[in-house]
Amino acid sequence: MINKAKELILNEDIVAIPTETVYGLAGSIYSAVAVEKIFKTKERPFFDPLIVHVTGVEMAKPLTTNWNQTCDELAKAFWPGPLTLVLPKDESVSDMITSGLPSVGIRCPNHPIALEIIKSTNTPLAAPSANKFTKTSPTSKEHVYAEFGDDIYIIDGGQCDIGIESTVIGVFDNEIKIYRPGMINSCEIKEAITDKNIKVSYQESPVSPGALKHHYMPKKKVTLLKEASNLPNVSTWIVPKSPQIAARELYSRLRMMDEENTEEIHIVLDENFKSQETFKGILNRLDKAKTFDHYFV
Ligand code: TXA
Ligand code: MG
Repeated sequence: MINKAKELILNEDIVAIPTETVYGLAGSIYSAVAVEKIFKTKERPFFDPLIVHVTGVEMAKPLTTNWNQTCDELAKAFWPGPLTLVLPKDESVSDMITSGLPSVGIRCPNHPIALEIIKSTNTPLAAPSANKFTKTSPTSKEHVYAEFGDDIYIIDGGQCDIGIESTVIGVFDNEIKIYRPGMINSCEIKEAITDKNIKVSYQESPVSPGALKHHYMPKKKVTLLKEASNLPNVSTWIVPKSPQIAARELYSRLRMMDEENTEEIHIVLDENFKSQETFKGILNRLDKAKTFDHYFV
């Protein structure tokens, strides 16, 4: 499986690979053909930048012009893992990957298959989530198959352990901006940095469509509520108390409920979760997947 993936990538093709967060659609960052195929396959607009996947700090450093001490500390604390660092890009990284932005998102995935493929091709891999633009991200081989069928070679790595996409942060000399919340939260990020003067704040990136209002959306109407409604023709998911379990289940539940013989989807969310830092990433995805919100309307 890994050999086949290696061959495809070295031949400028793309492959769906498992990571600990969600499945990615991967191609060499040095192949314009592969990068173009990623955008085309995903039906993704060219203004949405791709994340570059590496085996570690050594492979990351040449991709940026400003790998500072904060980066070292964050990589030490969280890599391999679900944290993407957005840094000034080196000129070797093409504008196609960064959508013309002067910065590049870099992450080292915590998955043996993903790491093995990057290592064996000795190439950083551009990989967005392996779903069509604005749709729910895939957390299993079956999900990827449902998106692309036989068009894409998929490596089966079972169910993704984390379940939602990485935390994306902009790292600057005096501050860190969280562009996309994920399972690594602001408290953990603060703790990992020795320079306590560095400010950490949430700021959805205006340049990143991951921050679009509607994303991760099922076909059916999705409503968030405080209590189950018991209405007929409704598929209901009660969000588990454990953020780890909730994140792991989230996208499979959305897909499953979308396929059930019902008319709409209800997601029941304990009010206390709303103020919990550990639920930030999950709430962000629910907020974008919903059509209605009985909390706010
Ligand atoms: O967990 C993940 O991050 C997964 C797995 C496959 O690694 N990947 C993923 O990629 O979620 P994607 O393309 O679906 O989301 C990447 C998002 C972009 O939409 C954008 O929000 C942000 O990362 N991003 C990437 N490069 C950026 C940049 N230079 N500046 C700001 N945001 C950036
Ligand atoms: Mg995505």
